[in-house]
Formats: sequence, C-alpha cells, structure tokens
Amino acid sequence: MSKGIFITMEGPDGSGKSTQIELLKSYLEEEGYDTLITREPGGTAISEAIRGIILNKDFTEMSPMTEMLLYASARAQLIAEVVGPTLEAGKAVISDRFVDSSLVYQGIARGLGIEKVYEVNRLAIGEYMPDVTFLLDLPAEVGISRKKDQKELDRMELESLEFHKKVAEGYREMGRRFPDRITTIDATLPIDEISGLIKESVRAILKV
Ligand code: TYD
Repeated sequence: MSKGIFITMEGPDGSGKSTQIELLKSYLEEEGYDTLITREPGGTAISEAIRGIILNKDFTEMSPMTEMLLYASARAQLIAEVVGPTLEAGKAVISDRFVDSSLVYQGIARGLGIEKVYEVNRLAIGEYMPDVTFLLDLPAEVGISRKKDQKELDRMELESLEFHKKVAEGYREMGRRFPDRITTIDATLPIDEISGLIKESVRAILKV
C-alpha cells in the first residue's frame, strides 16, 4: 500500500468530472493534503503524445486491441512518472479517468472483455489501484448533447449513440461489481449536491 491517497473520477463523456475534480482538490487541500490532478489518457509528455494518436478522428481504422494497448501504454507511463512517485511521497492524486475507463470503453463497449483488459492493465498499473472511485452516472443522450455544445468532437466522442449507451450501462455494471471501491452518483443532480456527496465519502476514508 502506498502512503498517499488515490482517487479516480469516472463517467461517460460530458458527465461533469472536471468540475467535481476541482472542487474535490480544494476540499483535500483544506484538509491539509498536497493534491495533484491528472488526466487520462495524458498527464505526461509521452502519454499526451499517445493521446494525440488515440483521439485523432482521422484514425477510423484503429482496431479495438490497438486502442486498448495504447490506453494501457499511456497509463503505464503516467504511473511510472507521476502517480507512483506522488503517492509514495504521501500526497493525494485525483485522476480524471483511470483503469475503469478501459474496462468499460474497451472491455465492455468495444467488446474485448473485462478480464482481458484487466489482465493487460494489471501489468501497466502494478499495485496502484484507486482507494476510491467516483462514478458520475449519466444517460448517454445527456452526456453527448452536453459535449456537442462544448467543442469539436474527438474520435471516441464521434462514436454512435449505441456505443455511448453501452458505456453508460457498462459503468453501472462496474459499480455493481465493485461496490466497495466504486461510489455511484447521479450526475444530473446539482453541482453542489454532487460535491457534497463526494466530500462525505472522502471524509470517511480520511478518517480511517
Ligand atoms: P477526454 O477528452 O479526456 O474525455 P472526457 O472529457 O470525457 O474525459 O477523452 C478521453 C476519451 O477516451 C473519452 O471518450 C473516454 C476514452 N477512454 C477510453 O476509451 N479508455 C480509457 O482507458 C480512457 C482513459 C479513456
């Protein structure tokens, strides 16, 4: 077990993770934790370069296996360079997406299977599983329409509604499978209510 605290934020595209991550960082800092935010795929120079390949909307021919291995590669580098050393230094890390994204998007929605994706990712992440994961649950239609208003869509966001429905349902399945680690929250609630639920749950871990 590392000395720090590792929290991950998960959910379909457009579920409001970034807002909640910022609010959680402020809370942890008030509680005295030096807190680092990171995002996946990305967070290091190499991982950001891999992100550029993965999300390039011209690469429509990318196979699910290639996609899964690229996400795992970006993750291995992030663990080696950032997450591992930060946790070992006793700090808090909040990651915008982590291994559950691969289990859901590649394992379930792309159909590679959760077990296979987990096996590869175990090599990439070693002992660094999150202490707690928040799943911001949102119907696929709502997430997609929120994203459309924001920016130009990337290769994953351009996937069909069918795909995004599998993602939303896949996340719910993960929440049911790992109830001790994953806390599911209704992402249609007001921002401050969601934040309150997250803080409540983090407070319980900080006291352990
Ligand atoms: P990003 O712009 O970071 O999306 P968001 O703002 O919704 O977090 O793009 C990351 C995309 O990559 C997103 O569609 C989810 C997908 N993804 C996977 O398919 N597998 C993974 O392992 C990760 C980390 C992300």
